[in-house]
Amino acid sequence: MNTSDSSSAPSTSDAPDSASADLATDTSHPFLDKPGKKIQGLFDEIAPRYDLLNRILSFNIDIWWRYKAVQSLRLKPGHKVLDACCGTGDLSMAAIKAEPEVEVIGSDFSMQMLLNGDRKRRNKSGSARGPRLVQADTLRLPFKDNTFDGAMVGFGMRNVSDLPAGLRELSRVLKPGGRLMILEFTPMTNRLLRPFSDWYQGTILPALGNLLSGSRVKAYSYLDESVKDWPDGDRFAEIIRMTPFHAVRWKPLFPGNVAVHEAVKG
Ligand SMILES: C[S@@+](CC[C@H](N)C(=O)[O-])C[C@H]1O[C@@H](n2cnc3c(N)ncnc32)[C@H](O)[C@@H]1O
Repeated sequence: MNTSDSSSAPSTSDAPDSASADLATDTSHPFLDKPGKKIQGLFDEIAPRYDLLNRILSFNIDIWWRYKAVQSLRLKPGHKVLDACCGTGDLSMAAIKAEPEVEVIGSDFSMQMLLNGDRKRRNKSGSARGPRLVQADTLRLPFKDNTFDGAMVGFGMRNVSDLPAGLRELSRVLKPGGRLMILEFTPMTNRLLRPFSDWYQGTILPALGNLLSGSRVKAYSYLDESVKDWPDGDRFAEIIRMTPFHAVRWKPLFPGNVAVHEAVKG
C-alpha cells in the first residue's frame, strides 16, 4: 500500500472525542460542513464494521448498485481506472470483476478504511487480484494530469468539502475522453416509496447504524443528514456540467434512492 501523502495520515482519536462534545449541544450534525480531518476520523472509526453495516442497512442491494454502476465506465482490457474515496474497495472489486484486465488504483484519506479493505481481500483469498491502494485526499490526488481512462466515486463525493474542486481534480487526472462515474444517494425518485424511504433513512438507519457501529461521532446520523443536504439528480448533473465534463447523464437505481451519474472529460 502506498501512503504517499504522509501529511494526510489517519487522524488521531481526539477528533471523535471533540466531536462527541459538539454532538451534545447541536441539533444538526457538526460535520455537515465536511471538515476533512473530522470526516477522515469518522471513517477511521467505523471502518471495522463499514462493510457489514452496508450489507445490513441496504438489505444487500449495495452489491448490485456497484455492479450496475461500473457498467457506465465501459471498461476495456488495459484501462487504467481510479476509484477515488475507495474506502474498503468494493467498487474497485466490482470493476475488476466486470473487466479482469483493468488496472485499478483506489485512493482514500482514511487509512483504516484502506487497511480493512486490504485485510478483507487477503482473508478471502491470498492471491485475489485487487486494486493498488493509495492514501490520498480526493482534493489533492497524487497523480499526473491525463493519467486515467476512467474515474469512479462510490458514496464518496457527498463527503468532499469542496464539490466543484473535487470534480475538477478528477477531471485533471482523467485523459481527454475519459469517463467519470459517480454513484451516490439521491432523494427517493419513487413517489410511492418516498414516505417509507424518508422514515427508514431518518429513523431506522441512524439508530441502527450508530448502535451497531458503536460510533461516538454518530456517523450514521451524519449519513442521514448529509444525504438530505445533497442535491437531487438534476441539480448534481448541473454542477458536474459547470466543471470540465460534458455528456452528463444520470439515472436512478432500484429502489430509487441511489443514482449513477456519468460524464466524459472534454
Ligand atoms: C461512504 S464511504 C464509500 C466507500 C466506497 N467507495 C464504497 O463504495 O463503499 C466514503 C469514503 O470516502 C472517503 N473520503 C471522504 N472524503 C474524502 C476525501 N476528501 N479524500 C479522500 N477520501 C475521502 C472516506 O474516507 C470513506 O472511505
